[in-house]
Amino acid sequence: MILKNKKVLIIIGGGISAYKALDLIRLLKKNNVSIKTILTKSGKEFVTPLSITTLTKNKTFEDIFDKNSEAEIDHIALSRWADVIIVIPATANLMTKLSIGKAEDLATTVLLASNKDILLVPAMNVRMWLHKATQRNFKTLLDYGYNFIGPVKGEMACGEYGEGKMSSPRQIYAYLKSYFNKRNLVKNKNYKAVVTTGPTREYLDPIRYISNESSGKQGYEVALALNKLGIKTKLISGPTSLIFSKDLTIKKIVTAKEMMNEVKKTLPVDIAVCAAAVSDYKPINKNKNKIKKNISNIENIKIEKNPDILNYLSKNNKTRPKIVVGFSAETENVVQNSKKKIKEKYCDLIIANDVSTKEIGFNSDYNKVFIIDKNGKIKSIPKNKKSFIAASIAKIILDKLLMNDKNIN
Ligand code: PMT
Repeated sequence: MILKNKKVLIIIGGGISAYKALDLIRLLKKNNVSIKTILTKSGKEFVTPLSITTLTKNKTFEDIFDKNSEAEIDHIALSRWADVIIVIPATANLMTKLSIGKAEDLATTVLLASNKDILLVPAMNVRMWLHKATQRNFKTLLDYGYNFIGPVKGEMACGEYGEGKMSSPRQIYAYLKSYFNKRNLVKNKNYKAVVTTGPTREYLDPIRYISNESSGKQGYEVALALNKLGIKTKLISGPTSLIFSKDLTIKKIVTAKEMMNEVKKTLPVDIAVCAAAVSDYKPINKNKNKIKKNISNIENIKIEKNPDILNYLSKNNKTRPKIVVGFSAETENVVQNSKKKIKEKYCDLIIANDVSTKEIGFNSDYNKVFIIDKNGKIKSIPKNKKSFIAASIAKIILDKLLMNDKNIN
């Protein structure tokens, strides 16, 4: 039922498991899925266009320069048509091409040009799968936002046993069902999120301010990842040099007070993620003119605490978002100190990161985090690109929200 009238573009790669694509097509067709297929040149060595067409009742697309159809349907149109794109089997070779962004035929061009979710179903010999090059490509593709179904452990066509076997058509079918189920739920619920990111600036005079090294990258990636899951997301950002995607609603602010006001204006939301490095203190008064360099002027600077946005969100009974997520920047005892913070700040999850090194945390493209829930359960995500970390966080938040809503309804 959930799959009825969904549009799935199936790209058939060149591996022995390509024949299983026919089984998948049969299963999906039985569930009234609309299917279009791209058959790669090497895929054609394993399955024929005739067998595919017989099952799909549609022609297969094979060539990027197809004179009969170019005007009517090109690589962009194929991607636009699809609700989701699935690559079966995703060979080591195809994964390499995708990881370097090579667009040399219709399949790779569609994949590079698409903004739809792409599900890769790898299948290869165990040694090929475990090879450092493939594993590096796997990580790169995860970081680019590709989704993987399998591979699983088992006996392969070459007679060897291990990881690299393709997920079965039934497993792929089950994945698709749960994928569309989740998407439907999110769409129907019309979920909204607010994410804070970047530093705040607290001015002492027209040119000097208290701030920190936050680049805004981590929070921006979380906002993008939530948005990609279908959650309408507003990003409230302190001063950064980021170039923001047009897909997000962005509000730029400078001070903690402005950030707080914008957050308040955005309520009610279902999810709040506070990734901003808000200055804890601000000068009580901003001097109208540049402060002169004598010591008494400096000594007379008085500071006060800024409002705590995360605290406001999680303690606000009237408009408390269903899921409130804080970040915790620590230079020592990262987990221990963050566990305390989750209690002090009443949030549902806290994302703890070590900011004592330049390799991760502030201003780096990478991070390494511990996701801690209010019961003290910890999931650690090893060092990876901030976009990858953000996608993992976004998925966990959505699962928590769906679970929360299921329990309420
Ligand atoms: O921006 P990047 O360069 O990508 O770096 C990412 C990051 C290191 C800034 C990010 O991952 C991070 O850790 N953000 C939180 C930084 C921080 O201020 O941590 P904290 O432990 O001091 O604060 C705890 C929580 O309270 C945070 O969610 C913070 O947003 C929130 N807070 C703090 C003070 C305040 N006045 N208002 C708040 O909402």
